[in-house]
Amino acid sequence: MATLKEKFVTAMGPMKERVQKLNKEFGDVNVSSVNVGQIVGGARDIISMLWDVSLLDKFEGIRFRGFSIPELREKLPKAPGGTEPLPEGIFYLLLLGEIPSAADCAAITEEWQKRSVLPQYLLDTMNAVAKDTHPMTQFSLAILQLQRESEFARRYKEKMPKSQYWDATYEDVMNLIAKLPNIAAYIYRRSYKGGKHIAPDLKLDWGANMAHMLGVTDDPAFKELMRLYLCIHSDHEGGNVSAHTTHLVGSALSDAYYSLSAGMNGLAGPLHGLANQEVLGWIQDLMKDLGGVPTKEQLEKYMWDTLNGGRVIPGYGHAVLRKTDPRYMAQREFALKHMPDYDLFKVVSLVYEVAPDVLTKHGKTKNPWPNVDAHSGVLLCYYGVVEYDFYTVFFGVSRALGVLAQLVWDRALGLPIERPKSVTTEWLEAFIKEHPPAAK
Ligand SMILES: CC(C)(COP(=O)(O)OP(=O)(O)OC[C@H]1O[C@@H](n2cnc3c(N)ncnc32)[C@H](O)[C@@H]1OP(=O)(O)O)[C@@H](O)C(=O)NCCC(=O)NCCS
Repeated sequence: MATLKEKFVTAMGPMKERVQKLNKEFGDVNVSSVNVGQIVGGARDIISMLWDVSLLDKFEGIRFRGFSIPELREKLPKAPGGTEPLPEGIFYLLLLGEIPSAADCAAITEEWQKRSVLPQYLLDTMNAVAKDTHPMTQFSLAILQLQRESEFARRYKEKMPKSQYWDATYEDVMNLIAKLPNIAAYIYRRSYKGGKHIAPDLKLDWGANMAHMLGVTDDPAFKELMRLYLCIHSDHEGGNVSAHTTHLVGSALSDAYYSLSAGMNGLAGPLHGLANQEVLGWIQDLMKDLGGVPTKEQLEKYMWDTLNGGRVIPGYGHAVLRKTDPRYMAQREFALKHMPDYDLFKVVSLVYEVAPDVLTKHGKTKNPWPNVDAHSGVLLCYYGVVEYDFYTVFFGVSRALGVLAQLVWDRALGLPIERPKSVTTEWLEAFIKEHPPAAK
């Protein structure tokens, strides 16, 4: 059986030709224009980046290499006896664009196990960080410290030719992904479980092994949750903060460690990945204030208080999506199957009934529907991960799969350093003066 790397080499040549042909023959064809609102308003919808591993439709949600989440839950290989897809499978799909076999997934599990050992100097660094440092800071620091291992940085120094950039990046990416569950579990056990660490179980797949090393429960459904979670958070096309940051930093030929660490710092923002911890905090506060599962009327009032207090309803709204996030629905299905009577899930469901109406009446957000972060915390809490500060680390481990698969492609395609154009307010005002809009 050809290895993942050999298959990548086969896929790389034709893809490179396609991109080069587009660039050479149609490089000056306009695909979109830009208005002042987009320049001032966070570059929304400006098409400015090549990102092959996934594509987001504002109404349908994410497709990974053309496959929707329900399709992937059906088609990707599962662990023996399991029903949720293996993250190894999604990585294979994102990298190669094909659905893998069970044997392909097993080969990746084995490869990652071989590369997963954390070096002592990394553990020393991690042990030196104050335990109450936010887990995302610890996660990003650990990834950055591992930069010492970078094949890309070492070979670049030894004058590696451009044609080899993808190869060194591939090695970095495989080494780094392999270690992420161990890093995450190390942070968790050190910060919250008195530093009593749990050895990896080499019989387990990547996601299940992470569940095992966290040591919160023996319930096999938690392993299933980890597999599902690590699949669905893996990518959300290229423009979101964590993906774009990883890609941008990588475009300077900073290696995979520098790039992912930077991307994780973006994921740590409350408007991005940190929203999952905010959601649970908000729900628990409301249950405390309202004495348990609220009525619809109580919840509605609580939401208005939140909004009138100048705060957002966490887990609702999206920069691109204009309907319920399919990643929310996948988690809701999991909850309906495994924890239908759990009080926190009942509140999450009630919020889903009430929030879209309230947000629509409030009239500000363009999307009153829930995003991925509205649901993940309750699932984690159910299995005993009650330390909300840690939630974004799960997101980070998963997000690495997508952004690093794309990073290998970035180097394989020889994509250049990114350098969009910025302008000053004065420049924009002068432009409008010279090009006054037609009177309405
Ligand atoms: C995701 C998010 C950052 C997208 O931001 P965006 O693209 O600027 O969203 P919109 O264009 O719809 O925002 C327009 C207005 O609605 C507000 N709004 C958006 N979502 C809101 C929410 N959930 N609750 C209250 N107000 C919200 C925005 O703050 C903005 O207000 P402003 O004009 O006073 O600045 C935003 O919806 C949000 O803050 N959601 C809550 C945090 C969250 O769940 N993040 C995870 C994203 S996956």
